[in-house]
Amino acid sequence: MYRLARSAIFQLDPEYAHDLAIKFFRRFTGTPLEMFYRQNIPSRPVQVMGLHFKNPVGLAAGLDKNGECIDAFGAMGFGFIEVGTVTPKAQLGNDKPRIFRVLPAEGIINRMGFNNVGVDMLVENIKKAKYKGIIGVNIGKNKDTSLEKCKDDFIICMNKVYDYAGYIVVNISSPNTQGLRSLQYGEAFDDLLCALKLRQHELAKNRGKYVPVALKIAPDMTEKELVQVADALVRHKIDGVIATNTTLDRSIVAGMPHAHESGGLSGRPIQNRSTNIICRLHQELNDKLPIIGVGGVDSVIAAKEKMMAGAKLVQLYTGFIYHGPKLIKNIVRNI
Ligand SMILES: Cc1cc2nc3c(=O)[nH]c(=O)nc-3n(C[C@H](O)[C@H](O)[C@H](O)COP(=O)(O)O)c2cc1C
Repeated sequence: MYRLARSAIFQLDPEYAHDLAIKFFRRFTGTPLEMFYRQNIPSRPVQVMGLHFKNPVGLAAGLDKNGECIDAFGAMGFGFIEVGTVTPKAQLGNDKPRIFRVLPAEGIINRMGFNNVGVDMLVENIKKAKYKGIIGVNIGKNKDTSLEKCKDDFIICMNKVYDYAGYIVVNISSPNTQGLRSLQYGEAFDDLLCALKLRQHELAKNRGKYVPVALKIAPDMTEKELVQVADALVRHKIDGVIATNTTLDRSIVAGMPHAHESGGLSGRPIQNRSTNIICRLHQELNDKLPIIGVGGVDSVIAAKEKMMAGAKLVQLYTGFIYHGPKLIKNIVRNI
């Protein structure tokens, strides 16, 4: 069924197809047409970051940036749904075209640049959702906020989403916002983690509820950088780490259609790279905080490899685009 739909969808421009799908889900969730994507998924409960997940397979950030289709993705059986990246103010993102399929490798290159409706609208959408699972909110900085002031953007988003998020993800690993990845290192990194932790504790005290904060990291790190990041995560008592975002490296897809496009590469081509990062991170972290594995999960085996490398949960984006909702069911059933 999805194969048939995919051959039609893949005739369309990738972003147009994405927007069309979002419109479809917004229109038809809760109607009889939902039967085309609703799935009964076996229960595989897991406890991570102190939260109860129905199953360990989640939707990765970026597919439902504005939280418009939470119930549709819930109906497909995702054990948790990460919305965002959201920024304090709405922004358009980079010029189109900005998503490209690398078909022979089952990959995607994107340079979206955090296009989103802004944190207030996202919160309204979460409030409307009936989904009973965990909703993660992935937060970022506006393009026109300087790196020196970016802390403020993260704190604004944190304040606004705190009451509605199961967990919060700090995204400093997107390659499509200039300079963002530099926040993963050195003093700027320590400073940011310090500010986030402080605010998290204040909010937990005020609201009487502790919302875990995770950090999403890039796959393009040297061994030394990875060790430093792991050390900082432990030192600052960050609640979880999401590994990984997209890569800038093109060596594995060189010569393929669209491989020369700038942006982050995802899907099958980053499967091993992100699993290796998870493995190294797991050695360094020693189970002091949980890892959520993402990057090229497109089969039961790929999901198992991430979990054997040390991930407690996995997320899907590109694999879901290429293989459809059945991938969720296959993984949950066999994991
Ligand atoms: C079109 C597109 C948009 C994305 N947008 C975001 C985003 O807004 N925030 C984020 O943290 N990750 C974003 N990602 C990265 C994914 O969440 C994921 O980390 C990455 O694609 C690797 O997983 P995959 O190989 O399963 O796609 C995006 C990925 C794609 C393909």
